[in-house]
Amino acid sequence: PSTPALERLDNILYTQGFGTRRLCAGLIERGLVQVQGRPCTDQAALFPPEGLPITVQGQPWQCHPRAYLMLNKPAGYECSQRPSAWPGIYTLLPAPLRQRPGPGKTPGVQAIGRLDQDTTGLLLLSDDGAFIHRMNAPRQHIPKVYQVTCADPVTPEQVQRLLDGVTLHDDLRPVRAAACQPGPQAHTLALTLTEGKYHQVKRMLAAVGNRVTALHRSHIGRLPLPPDLAPGHWRWLTPQDLAQLQPLPA
Ligand code: URA
Repeated sequence: PSTPALERLDNILYTQGFGTRRLCAGLIERGLVQVQGRPCTDQAALFPPEGLPITVQGQPWQCHPRAYLMLNKPAGYECSQRPSAWPGIYTLLPAPLRQRPGPGKTPGVQAIGRLDQDTTGLLLLSDDGAFIHRMNAPRQHIPKVYQVTCADPVTPEQVQRLLDGVTLHDDLRPVRAAACQPGPQAHTLALTLTEGKYHQVKRMLAAVGNRVTALHRSHIGRLPLPPDLAPGHWRWLTPQDLAQLQPLPA
């Protein structure tokens, strides 16, 4: 196995979002940083950054050169970087994740696609531009599963129309559900989409004469929202999680 690249402690702190380079140097110098449970006051000390456990001013942190996370988005939060009417989802992340600089000149951690303010469930975030692009690219057809609650009972005709494709008013091409499973209740259905147009689920249900009253995203690719991740909570994606996001071989 190849030996992992080593990085200076001051640079690790900076890239993990603990403040300016100067601030990070000061934290180390003042003895406020522990690495693998032991204090380290040498800014130039070298460590392998991936998975490195550090403690900064008493805050334990697991280092990851690139951030891949999932959030269980609660209702009442906007996905925008500059929210207008509701708090932003980024306020649910700890300061290092909000502050970490992106690689090169790219922005830091951002949501991959957006969920409406009132939509709940699985949201991915990253600072890896190539990963974000791949997850958003329509050609990848990564399916997203939504648990939809409607104002009126869902009819077999509505299910068929969602599968056949509906035209959203300003589009030329109809959009269709990749899968549509009614139930478990009369007013509910699970809808699978492989694209992500603005308000797509709500507009598709409106186009077939129903109305969405609650919307929850339960899966992205083969990755489910873990039942033990409470609304408003986040966690790192594991290598196993990331494997569930690979497109299936055609
Ligand atoms: N479709 C919608 O209408 N809203 C969402 O938040 C996601 C998909």
